Amino acid sequence: MHSSKKRYRVRKSGPLRGTVQVPGDKSIGHRSLIFGALGRGLSRITGLSEGLDNAATRQAFRSMGVGVGTHDGTTEVHGVGLRGLRMPSDVVDCGNSGTTMRLLAGLLSGQRFGTRMVGDASLTRRPMGRVIHPLRARGAHIAGTSGAKQDELYPPISIAPLVEGEALQGIEYAMPVASAQVKSALLLSGLYADGPTILEEPVLSRDHTERMMLSLGVPLQTAGASVVLDPNADWSGGWEPFEWHVPGDPSSAAFPLLAAAMVPGSQVSVEEVCVNPTRTGLFDWLRLIGADITHRPSGHGAGDEPMAEISVAHRSIRGSLAGGEIIVRMIDEIPAVCALAVTARGETEIRDAAELRVKESDRLATMAHVLESFGVSCDEHPDGMTVRGGAELHGATIDSHGDHRIAMSATLLGLLASGETVIEGAEAVDTSFPGFVELFRSLGADIKEETL
Ligand code: S3P
Repeated sequence: MHSSKKRYRVRKSGPLRGTVQVPGDKSIGHRSLIFGALGRGLSRITGLSEGLDNAATRQAFRSMGVGVGTHDGTTEVHGVGLRGLRMPSDVVDCGNSGTTMRLLAGLLSGQRFGTRMVGDASLTRRPMGRVIHPLRARGAHIAGTSGAKQDELYPPISIAPLVEGEALQGIEYAMPVASAQVKSALLLSGLYADGPTILEEPVLSRDHTERMMLSLGVPLQTAGASVVLDPNADWSGGWEPFEWHVPGDPSSAAFPLLAAAMVPGSQVSVEEVCVNPTRTGLFDWLRLIGADITHRPSGHGAGDEPMAEISVAHRSIRGSLAGGEIIVRMIDEIPAVCALAVTARGETEIRDAAELRVKESDRLATMAHVLESFGVSCDEHPDGMTVRGGAELHGATIDSHGDHRIAMSATLLGLLASGETVIEGAEAVDTSFPGFVELFRSLGADIKEETL
């Protein structure tokens, strides 16, 4: 899905200063498009990211007969109702987006038409058994493809239609891993089921789907890490269109904010960041390690999501141990935290983060390699990493491995390293953070982008 290859050239930079906005939250963006497409009429969404991941979801709905267009920053979604999607004329290309594929796997399992979903090389290596198995258990005709690991299923995914008179069944499922993608796939399929969807996670993962369903009147109840959706409760079987604003993505805000924490003399603010507590692990972590971080509430966005302006100024930080529930709330920020750890006094140890091995790349292995390339000492663990702070960094040539967050985390290290840092495969950043280089340049960073 990437248009052309890109390379970043990064040099050691002076203090970063300024107030910026980041693209809309990727997770909330996907879900706003999904709920808009299934609503009864025209929904309007502002702040939606122009990143390629959200574009994959947008395109998927277009191919199923949903009109989606953007005018002056407002995305209009002509919802067709829960039963109004049409069979796509071709395969659904999810590009690099695991969220598109896993959420749509749930939604499309409940349809009376068949679909086939494909992804790029990175997505094709990611495990899909975690959604396919529970969906099958509730009667979906869904199949994956065998691949690297026996007992695992990978894309492409094929879904055969439910026949006349057939419906998905209720399910009670204790999820083995905390995953908002799996939870959301099951809740979306639950909209089409003839019994309740009862889910329990080991730790509550991001709860955007639940917040949106509740705000749209879907009969849902939550308690801690449990959720129940009962479509047989008193419910009209759909929802009216809405006007939602997508808050800034905390996983993108992490990069300018951590740059400020890392580069002496810096002070950066990011406006309208989503501060849903299931997403604020990084901000809590920064407070814990002594960073200078402040938070000013700024209202609510799509489906009752709290927003705030977050500011970080450079200050000396200490190494610490991160493990357990906070990891789930900062899972996408851990590569950037590994970069930050280079500036901490002492060691930073990350644990309970084995899920990082099945993201857009094996983020523990790729980040360990990135750190070593810059001259940083670290140990990779099966479920995490120990990074030793205080090294003098030298510029390096880094391959993103097609992973946006690796390219951006390496950029943070490049801001501190002597000489030049070259980041190959930087086009991956367009999946979540179009305008990344311009934003960093506006703060004073020395970064150049080359289109190859
Ligand atoms: C996401 C959930 C998380 C996260 C991903 C987006 C979502 O993945 O890492 O970037 O929007 O539901 P898991 O559900 O696999 O934990």
